[in-house]
Amino acid sequence: MRVAIYSTKGYEREIMDAANRGHGHEFVYLDVRLTAQTAPLAEGCACAAIFANDDASAPSLEGLAKAGVRLLALRSAGFNHVDLEAASRLGLTALRVPAYSPYSVAEHAVALILSLNRKTHRAYSRVREQNFNLAGLMGFDLHGKTVGVLGTGKIGRAFARIMLGFGCRVIAHDPFPNDELAAIGVEYVPLETLWRESRVLSIHCPLTPATHHLVNEQSLAMMPEGVMLINTSRGGVVDTRAVIRALKSGHIGALGLDVYEEEGDLFFRDLSDKVIQDDVFVRLMTFPNVLITAHQGFFTKEAITNIADTTVQNITDFERGAPHPDNLVTLEKLVASAS
Ligand code: NAI
Repeated sequence: MRVAIYSTKGYEREIMDAANRGHGHEFVYLDVRLTAQTAPLAEGCACAAIFANDDASAPSLEGLAKAGVRLLALRSAGFNHVDLEAASRLGLTALRVPAYSPYSVAEHAVALILSLNRKTHRAYSRVREQNFNLAGLMGFDLHGKTVGVLGTGKIGRAFARIMLGFGCRVIAHDPFPNDELAAIGVEYVPLETLWRESRVLSIHCPLTPATHHLVNEQSLAMMPEGVMLINTSRGGVVDTRAVIRALKSGHIGALGLDVYEEEGDLFFRDLSDKVIQDDVFVRLMTFPNVLITAHQGFFTKEAITNIADTTVQNITDFERGAPHPDNLVTLEKLVASAS
């Protein structure tokens, strides 16, 4: 099958080509993001393989369908960026990579926690300037602290296990509690208890209408003074403006973000010689207790290889008329995950 691969980075091509061995698809690598303007570039391709920050809204999908695309192969687990109603109306099948390495994102969330707590990101620059003063670098023992997990799917579960290993009390909220996790000591609690008792709160639920701005003025007010908030799921779960107000007042003690509401115009690109127009994001970057990474939670060798292998397999399965049911993204699944 001829496949237009949007938003491809240099490191990905080699891995995608390796995954394609034995499958024989024809890949058209495109550096650009999918948008309504770039959709016609898929002309003659039956599949468009897209990434988390591609714009799969109705106008883009209409453009893809017009170009002859029938399959949307998502090189991601999240599918909040896809207008599934439009996809269904246009007869587009969407297949995703539901699991590629939950450890990659879970471990990145832990990296953010450890850096923010012990301020290694600041210590690094200080020591390089031969400033060996420790003022301002004091952290706290994670051992014995309460860590909250919002969403205990694949990533949330891997994260919870790591934090149990640190000797933390781990509490969690999920509409579908996991028995295995409860059996090893994770306490499922109502959402309000999660807000009130988490010293560190890590977000691992998908972005759905129900989770949009779940972290907002009201929920932040319930969190303990000095809470550390970590978001490696999707930016839209957090109301960034409310978070900035809580950072300014000192209510949030530390913020670690791998995702941002408006990241589509920023992340995955070198903008070092550009003037950033997003004032909210620029304000976020000014806080000493905020650590931002540009959506790199998934970025391990194992995860990238698994993404490529499953994407290519998804394309082959679709071509053979047997898409894997677990990988199908449908409106029904979106509604189920939002309920
Ligand atoms: P998953 O589908 O295995 O788990 C999601 C969990 O969230 C489920 O247990 C679900 O019941 C729960 N959930 C749904 N609504 C909820 C709500 N209102 N409150 C609490 N929990 C709720 O997904 P997985 O693989 O664990 O990924 C989680 C999210 O992480 C993805 O949706 C994606 O947005 C994000 N992600 C981020 C990456 C990164 O590079 N930063 C890479 C991969 C995923």
